[in-house]
Amino acid sequence: MIRKPIRKAVFPVAGLGTRFLPATKAIPKEMLPIIDRPLIQYAVDEAREAGIEQLIFVTGRGKTSIVEHFDTAFELEATMAGRGKSLDVLDATRIQPGNLVTVRQQVPLGLGHAIWCARAIVGDEPFAIFLPDELMIGTPGCMKQMVEAYNEVGGNLISVLEVPEDEVSSYGVIKPGAKISPSLTEVIGLVEKPRREDAPSNLIISGRYILQPEVMRTLEDQGKGAGGEIQLTDAMARMIGTQPFHAVTFAGRRYDCGSKAGFVEATLELALARPDMADDVRVLIRRLAAEID
Ligand code: UTP
Repeated sequence: MIRKPIRKAVFPVAGLGTRFLPATKAIPKEMLPIIDRPLIQYAVDEAREAGIEQLIFVTGRGKTSIVEHFDTAFELEATMAGRGKSLDVLDATRIQPGNLVTVRQQVPLGLGHAIWCARAIVGDEPFAIFLPDELMIGTPGCMKQMVEAYNEVGGNLISVLEVPEDEVSSYGVIKPGAKISPSLTEVIGLVEKPRREDAPSNLIISGRYILQPEVMRTLEDQGKGAGGEIQLTDAMARMIGTQPFHAVTFAGRRYDCGSKAGFVEATLELALARPDMADDVRVLIRRLAAEID
């Protein structure tokens, strides 16, 4: 069956990042770097690996540096070129003219509301969503794994991860239906932050989605949910039964870089995976570990 390809990705980046204050007072959370790349860059790289070229950033006040990161920096490039330095390091920040669009979310009313703010640009086609503070590292990347699943089953897809049962109450959890393959499961319900004993599974929703454009209509009249915010999970839960929904179990590592401990974990693990740093960081970690013991 020929499916509409996933060509557009929405990056909601209008949140306040309060858990990282005061760092995020003047710098967007999405611009905090894991080693030498801001979080938003990892998400954009993952989108492009999955064949997605049209990038829609839902921004708010104080977020202009996210857009500037993907601009051409004439002075920087001219100076570097004049000094004979390679510009390769900037390659990932180059976007085809016209492929980056920003829309504003004037007030951070919640993730669901942020996605709805992109409705005119998304139009009438399925699209991907990336929450850039969830760093997903895999081979292939998480969205590529999801696009492969989408080509198989179509409809709506949510990326999920297995967590220990005592952790489910911090997350959105899926109620699983039929198992299509080891990594693909039908979703028959969604529960936000269930008590451990009420959780329908230990598969938590992680920050990648492929959704049909009808979600915009559902978000249109979506009331406030948990935390007084308009929740994407609530809108998706209402769509289940009217549209196919599947969960893709991500084969790879997820780092919650919206939390400080997750941010440090990501920094250390990615540094260990970098040939230019691994030796130094291994020595550092061994020394720290010895001091702890
Ligand atoms: P989070 O709740 O993790 O981000 O939202 P936050 O609100 O920025 O951070 P804290 O909790 O105050 O520290 C997940 C994603 O949704 C975006 C955020 O920017 C983040 O990428 N978001 C959230 C919006 O774009 N708009 C909103 O109204 C809420």
